[in-house]
Amino acid sequence: IPRYCVLNTQAKMPTLGFGSYLLKGDPLRSALDYALFVGYRLIDTAYSYHNEADIGQVVKDRIKAGKLNRKDLFITTKIAKTHMRKADVATCFQKSLHDLQTSYVDSLLIHHPWSVVSVGPEGKQHFDNVDIVETWAGLQSLFREGSAKSIGVSNFTIDQLKRILSCNGPPLSHLQMECHAYLAQYKLKDFCDANNIVVTAYSPLGAPNVPTADANQKKHLLADPLINEIAKKVVKTPAQILLNFLMKRGMVVVPKSKNRDRLKENFKSRDWVLSTEDFNSILQLDCGVKYFKFSNRKGHQEYFPEADF
Ligand code: A2P
Repeated sequence: IPRYCVLNTQAKMPTLGFGSYLLKGDPLRSALDYALFVGYRLIDTAYSYHNEADIGQVVKDRIKAGKLNRKDLFITTKIAKTHMRKADVATCFQKSLHDLQTSYVDSLLIHHPWSVVSVGPEGKQHFDNVDIVETWAGLQSLFREGSAKSIGVSNFTIDQLKRILSCNGPPLSHLQMECHAYLAQYKLKDFCDANNIVVTAYSPLGAPNVPTADANQKKHLLADPLINEIAKKVVKTPAQILLNFLMKRGMVVVPKSKNRDRLKENFKSRDWVLSTEDFNSILQLDCGVKYFKFSNRKGHQEYFPEADF
């Protein structure tokens, strides 16, 4: 498996990264420090993960100790759905840069296509209707300034990508989406390939422990019989099979783990390649299981849960 994907900015993005959603504080700092020690060079975070200061601390300490160069690190962060008006994009991003203790990020994404005025108690969303093109113009300004080395989006449909692609100016380089063996996302992947957009697959292991993942889907990807059968046969773990499968499809993966053994296990998923036969049989598992349905955004003008399947 190649170690890097090349973005349409010519920048190299590692094919495997450290996902940080739901991690913060000591467990995050300890996991990230170990991940960087093992060799992870891509960190995926977001303003709304509330963990950028922890990440910044770990990165700064390693750089200070001479164990890491900022230029060898690829940091992705995301503009929150509460900050999608053009003036707010910069405010949101300045906070991320400040917390991450860096002067630039390697990739800056719009986290979701749907804007909200605020997120109230118990997660109640008060919708806003900011045009994604307005938010995009904000990201393009940050690209021109040099503080966002590449720009992209997350959780967008093909139609929404088309609206971004119709804008002039700095290009869309990167889409992040939920993708795993139960959710192949062929249409979005093909569209991105045709438009020179690198895809990052989030929840590549099927989000086994995410409480916010909609509970109506109980299918447990890591326990899938075929995945386990192949793992046994090739003497790899189920997680390594699932990650290798997505990278073989040409995607970047950002699995999350707070556990050292699993961080190392996941990192080693690039050292070999699935046979064509096993790869093809895993393709058959696609069944449209989406663990993140974002059901509380129902009714928003940019909410299209069943698009592109
Ligand atoms: P843990 O932090 O205890 O390792 P996803 O990235 O698909 O959302 O999955 C993340 C979840 O999968 C985390 O809860 C993590 O738990 C678990 N996980 C990460 N790596 C592995 C692995 N190699 N084997 C089993 N579970 C894993």
